[in-house]
Amino acid sequence: MINFDNIRKDFPILDSKVNGQNLIYFDNAATSQKPKKVIDSISDYYTNYNSNVHRGVHTLSMKATDAYEEGRNKVAKLINAPTDCIIWTRNTTESLNLIATSWAINNISEDNNIIITNAEHHSNLVTWQQVSKKTGCELRFLDITDGFNINELKNIFDVNTSLISITHMSNVLGYVIPIEQITELISGTNTKIIVDGAQSVPHMPVDVSDLDIDFLTFSAHKMMGPTGIGVLYGKKELLLDMQPFLFGGDMIIEVSYDDAKWNQLPYKFEAGTPNIADAIATGVAADYLSNIGMENIWNHELELSKYALNKFSSYDKFTVLGDNFSHLRGGVISFIHDKIHPHDIGTFLDQKGIAIRTGHHCAMPLIRSYDTSAAARISFYIYNSIEEIDSFFEALNEVEEYFS
Ligand SMILES: Cc1ncc(COP(=O)(O)O)c(C=O)c1O
Repeated sequence: MINFDNIRKDFPILDSKVNGQNLIYFDNAATSQKPKKVIDSISDYYTNYNSNVHRGVHTLSMKATDAYEEGRNKVAKLINAPTDCIIWTRNTTESLNLIATSWAINNISEDNNIIITNAEHHSNLVTWQQVSKKTGCELRFLDITDGFNINELKNIFDVNTSLISITHMSNVLGYVIPIEQITELISGTNTKIIVDGAQSVPHMPVDVSDLDIDFLTFSAHKMMGPTGIGVLYGKKELLLDMQPFLFGGDMIIEVSYDDAKWNQLPYKFEAGTPNIADAIATGVAADYLSNIGMENIWNHELELSKYALNKFSSYDKFTVLGDNFSHLRGGVISFIHDKIHPHDIGTFLDQKGIAIRTGHHCAMPLIRSYDTSAAARISFYIYNSIEEIDSFFEALNEVEEYFS
């Protein structure tokens, strides 16, 4: 049995007041809160064994190297990947850019096409727009406004599809995409698949070996880890074949005045002094999630999401974006009101200590397709509760009264 009260106690910030009110943090899709263990691990590194990795023979450097690589091991374990296929980047955005620069540009030509959906985060849209401009390939869109439909994907997929890059869970609509259906479709073809796991890896079990995907990208800060560090997983044969992303120290094995040879995986993609403290802390976050159990986290969030969606259905003037009930949805709910601007909703709720997000959620074209430039969004994590959702709806009633 999960003890939710104990989990909440692990997060110092959840005890704090905002505008004199108890904090209700519903902005987890933007970034999650951090447990004390993660915060302490950063302080411990800088206080007790701060040193550069991989190049020292002294005790502190060896300790830092071990802890840094242990962070990688823990992340590999979380997604069931070989450790040398885990590359540290700055975030999901950089992971996607790495694939674009090191793989896509060299493997895609004007005869090819790339498929993404109409609900991608800008990082998984603008990146491929740029690849399309550079290579001349076509960028095709799968419309998932009303949910993912494999037959619609089949209609736009063909032998020239080099890449399908798709969110695992939409940061606006909350839909979970059935990746297995896509990997089945592309099995035996040359098409590669990138799964943007920014919203899935922190919240549900993700097993790259089971899913048989080519790449997975995610950010530590959305999974209880620190900002400034992210992960790229890639299949070994692809990573071995790819060109480095950045050049310099650590990513080489041998250098002459004329040329250089690249280091082995994963270091080939990790030029320069890495983000040591945050890699260590990301490992602590991965352990923290594993200890609670990803299945438990996911089930809790599904319950919160269903509860909130049901509550929303009794409101006339609030519209939840996306199909509420016939698709698997995680704990991300975006909504608009007939008359009240999302920023007014967000500002009013802030006075009640409730943190939500308002704006285009880095999915401008999708938000505009609803004839609006902004939406409000609530998003949950394991430390959120039904009681908090009740408080949110009470506050929402006040919003309607205040602005009517
Ligand atoms: C689905 C999705 N993809 C990518 C990103 C980009 O993540 P980051 O800003 O950490 O690079 C986000 C962030 O909100 C996201 O929700």
